[in-house]
Amino acid sequence: MSQEQIKEQIKSLTDELNYHNHLYYQKSQSEISDYEFDQKLKELEKLEAEYPDLKLSYSPTSRVGGTITKDFETVFHKYPMLSLGNTYSFEELEDFDTRVKKGLGTDDYEYFCELKFDGVAISLIYENGMLKRGVTRGDGTKGDDITNNVKTIRTIPLKLEKSTSDLFEVRGEVFMAKELFIELNESRIREGEAPLANPRNTTSGTLKMQDSKVVASRKLNCYLYTYLDDNETFKTHEESIHFLEDMGFNISQTYQKCTSIKEVIDYINKWEEERHTLEVETDGVVIKVNSIDHQSELGFTAKNPRWAISYKFKAESASTTLKDISYQVGRTGAITPVAELEPVFLAGTTVKRASLHNANEIERLGVQIGDTVSVEKGGEIIPKITGVDLSARPDDSHPIQYIERCPECNTLLVRAEGEAQHYCPNQQSCPPQVLGRIEHFISRNALDIETLGPRTIKGFLSKNLISNYSDLYHLTYDRINDLQFEDVEDNGEVVKRSIKEKTANNILDSIQRSKEIPFERVLFGLGIRFVGKTVAEKLAEHFKTIDHVRNATFEEIIAVHEIGDRIAESVISFFSNPKNNEIVDSLKSSGLKMEIMEKEGAGDSLKGLTFVVSGVFEGYGRNDLKNLIKSQGGKIASSISSKTNYLVAGANMGPAKKEKAENLGIAILDEDAFNQLLENDKNRITEQKM
Ligand code: IVH
Repeated sequence: MSQEQIKEQIKSLTDELNYHNHLYYQKSQSEISDYEFDQKLKELEKLEAEYPDLKLSYSPTSRVGGTITKDFETVFHKYPMLSLGNTYSFEELEDFDTRVKKGLGTDDYEYFCELKFDGVAISLIYENGMLKRGVTRGDGTKGDDITNNVKTIRTIPLKLEKSTSDLFEVRGEVFMAKELFIELNESRIREGEAPLANPRNTTSGTLKMQDSKVVASRKLNCYLYTYLDDNETFKTHEESIHFLEDMGFNISQTYQKCTSIKEVIDYINKWEEERHTLEVETDGVVIKVNSIDHQSELGFTAKNPRWAISYKFKAESASTTLKDISYQVGRTGAITPVAELEPVFLAGTTVKRASLHNANEIERLGVQIGDTVSVEKGGEIIPKITGVDLSARPDDSHPIQYIERCPECNTLLVRAEGEAQHYCPNQQSCPPQVLGRIEHFISRNALDIETLGPRTIKGFLSKNLISNYSDLYHLTYDRINDLQFEDVEDNGEVVKRSIKEKTANNILDSIQRSKEIPFERVLFGLGIRFVGKTVAEKLAEHFKTIDHVRNATFEEIIAVHEIGDRIAESVISFFSNPKNNEIVDSLKSSGLKMEIMEKEGAGDSLKGLTFVVSGVFEGYGRNDLKNLIKSQGGKIASSISSKTNYLVAGANMGPAKKEKAENLGIAILDEDAFNQLLENDKNRITEQKM
């Protein structure tokens, strides 16, 4: 190929892939399969690697990251990034309306209401239809150039579909969907890492990361809400929003034009309730005067526009009494202090307990038993204590004496240098650690022995049938059939349980089946601290067999791509314990897979179908379910459209999604129906092959 032809080929692949990205991420549609897309992307990556000078600034390969920025360049904003004045009551809002009316000298004006997204403000500069730069708010006058990280956000167009004014700026809010934040924290906890505080801080931290590959993996999103240029292109804010929608920008479909402050209040009341069903966190409503002429007339104060204001939703906090502290022992032995509270109603649920994280947090808050504390829903997920009302401290309140021994097994706790968390070092016989490790071993991503629940495991432990996960493979029908044991319910009630013939057989069958689970998942199932699913895959891929992993030196482990000191130390420490080696030997002789196998090819039984997955599932983590669909050639869309084939609905799904699916006549599958679809399709495929 001539240079000219290569240039042409790069451009055509870039345009084609951008087009499919846009269809997929903004319109939940797809015209080509994932496979075809990946092939084309690979082809483009190869050409770009060979001819780096010909890579286009709007190449879709920048979506997956790969750049490292050591220091972000400081950039001045062309138009300052101001903040909004806040109001907390309808009276204050009416005062704002009075000021607007007075300022304009008429009552003929409109408002445009939007939600106040709780993320990180971003300014995007477009030049000749191309994303030129993405800059943080910074101090409002100048911010950091984080263009490479911004380019990983799939809903931000790199090149606009239509041509437009040569130079303009768009502003909006980058955020992490609540669902993704919960998933991220779940996986961090599984891997023994501290959970992150809330989606906003996580977004802010992510945008400042040096490695854009990690940023891409966090799957941030962005809503835009401001258009700016030097010409007076639009008459109203509404027009500018419609223009942005037309250009392919991601605009939250929650805005509303209002003709009176009364309508504004109705909008606030509606969203104060419904905001919890959205994927993004919101902390209020932004009310903007719609006409751009009116905006200019009203102007700015030193800090805020006079034509816009925010109304803050009532803080989701409540005040209650700290009755006591209890301590939880996690699977890895980590101790978490938990505040036992006088029950209080907060954002839709009754809160009785809140996390206090660790001893440092208790010290930081200076909280004592008997204190009146304020409780907030941190990122609307786990309630936490945010403050203490010292003026209400009762005479009989007393300081918290942090425990020195494990509440479960009485072993002296340890706290490693520089770590906030205390640990119980008695890994082998501390009950929650023993139970936790077995639960982890049988979990879906590990050995997937789904017929065994925590209750049965507790029963087996109490009857001394097992003391660790390798003992599961020594269970026999005679030992477990008709087994009677006692179980303590959450409310403290003791109930008698027994294992019937059918259950016994099911349990033994699924234990048997787990011997086919690939090595990387067995390695993950061992529950080595900091060895999560991805790390286990990397170690398995590199060392190939369990014996190579356990004989590896510290240097050999850190030589594995993306494996650091902390993981290496943890692996070494696990295998330096003779008991752990004994357990691994036992698993080996029971016939579990202890060597890597060649990967089996994925299927395409769901090819051409688009799914929206929502809610919580019993048999799958949401991500696993999505991966399963993708592995069978199906597409995942984040929102329902006429192109959606199925809505896979778990428990606690938002009512809005369900209603939309019903209105569009889209098939709604519960978990069983989905499994059925998968099974049917598999059968269909095998039948066709026969
Ligand atoms: S308009 C003059 N609209 O709130 C400021 N801001 O305190 C114009 N925000 O820094 C901003 N959602 O990060 C606007 N729909 C929305 C918003 C929004 C969130 C944030 C933004 C800004 C802060 C203002």
